Amino acid sequence: MTDHPSTAIPLTDQAGLSTELRQQAKRAGDHAWIEVIQQMDSIYADLVHYQVELEQKNSELENAQRFIESVISSISDILIVCDINGHIQQVNQALVDIIGMDSEQLAGEPLNRIFSEKHLPMISEFPEHIRSGSLIDCEVDLVNNQQEPVPMAINCSARFDHKNRLSGLVITGRPLGELRRAYSELHKAHEELKTAQLQLIQSEKMASLGRLVAGVAHELNNPISFLFANMHALKSYQQKFQTYLDAIHGDISKQESQRLRKDLRIDAMMQDIVPLVDGSLEGAERVSEIVQNLRKFTTPQESKKQSFDLVSVVQRAVSWVLKAAQQPPELQVYYPESLTLVNNEGYVHQILINLIQNALDAMDDQATSQLSISIHPTRSFVQVIVRDHGPGILEQDLVKVFDPFFTTKPVGSGTGLGLYISYGLATEQCLGDLSVRNHPQGGAEFTLSLPLETG
Ligand SMILES: Nc1ncnc2c1ncn2[C@@H]1O[C@H](COP(=O)(O)OP(=O)(O)OP(=O)(O)O)[C@@H](O)[C@H]1O
Ligand SMILES: [Mg+2]
Repeated sequence: MTDHPSTAIPLTDQAGLSTELRQQAKRAGDHAWIEVIQQMDSIYADLVHYQVELEQKNSELENAQRFIESVISSISDILIVCDINGHIQQVNQALVDIIGMDSEQLAGEPLNRIFSEKHLPMISEFPEHIRSGSLIDCEVDLVNNQQEPVPMAINCSARFDHKNRLSGLVITGRPLGELRRAYSELHKAHEELKTAQLQLIQSEKMASLGRLVAGVAHELNNPISFLFANMHALKSYQQKFQTYLDAIHGDISKQESQRLRKDLRIDAMMQDIVPLVDGSLEGAERVSEIVQNLRKFTTPQESKKQSFDLVSVVQRAVSWVLKAAQQPPELQVYYPESLTLVNNEGYVHQILINLIQNALDAMDDQATSQLSISIHPTRSFVQVIVRDHGPGILEQDLVKVFDPFFTTKPVGSGTGLGLYISYGLATEQCLGDLSVRNHPQGGAEFTLSLPLETG
């Protein structure tokens, strides 16, 4: 900007002629001259004023431009501004860094210059698409100064001038490698999470199974020892019968045979055979029943929905858990005689085992413990209520007990998955519900609701 006087000094003064001219004019009476000079003064003053204003605006403009440039150059995504024919007008530093050519080299060049040949037909259609108003979102390769492709995800949109006329296009983009890497890391993390979740569910099942093994062993022990004892008795009977038969078919008197019959207790043994065989059969049936139930529990996916008696499933779950308990609680039950449901028996059993086991765990430290289990059929649902007389659940924990990994048990003794899994089974597999509350008279109360389908 040229130097200018800071205040407007009349031109005639600067020329040092003002007073003389005015005097001459007066003398000559030539008013026209005075007017011309005054007009010149005022125009000059206006000019100076405009110049000051212009300089101010210019400096504001320069500041705004610097601001915009700093913003554009700090954007990590690439930015390409083109005219409507696809000739580059401006690019940002991110693009310069990626393709290794500076902005002066690129200015005025067609867009084709920086994209890979295979994408040229698509790039050349950009202006056409933009004119028809569509926004372009695609994956293309830029070509750097080593002629290597750099895959990018780009977005092309229209640019309008201050009169809102289409004046060009703006392309923004991000190296695809980065996006792909982020996506594949996300995918990997998701897969790992899924595997971990599956493993946890499996290990929870194994842990539950482990707890149950003690109960099952106890259950099996009774009928098997019964069977053993019966078989031993039958074997000794066989020996005695053999001795007796050999004797009576030999050469002995009637008297002797009667004495032998008495000594060997043949009549008592005869009476014993039927109950011994019946007891053994019952024991064998019990063992086979336990094995079948165990199979149902361990492979519940095999057992689809089927008709079963809820009361016996509840009784079985109670007896399994109680058999393994160190101190069996005092048990109060309220069941109907039987109640047929159509549902997944294995899952119902698994849920009940978890609820009963938790109830027992909660009363572990107590000198006396009480467990109440009741079955209440309503119009369309049946409720199985498991209530203990333990300390109950803290008010703030009531909403957390069904969360995965929520446990208040010492490290190593609880995974915090029992109720999470039970809730999932109750709601998703059995199409029922599982809820909890603290009983007004103390203890925790869990309610398992199951749809009452008897078809
Ligand atoms: N009957 C209950 N009385 C008091 N608290 C209970 C009862 N049942 C569950 N809880 C609370 O809910 C938590 C979560 O129970 P959940 O069965 O999910 O896991 P866990 O019993 O701690 O461990 P896991 O069942 O995996 O061995 C328990 O740690 C306990 O704090
Ligand atoms: Mg549990």
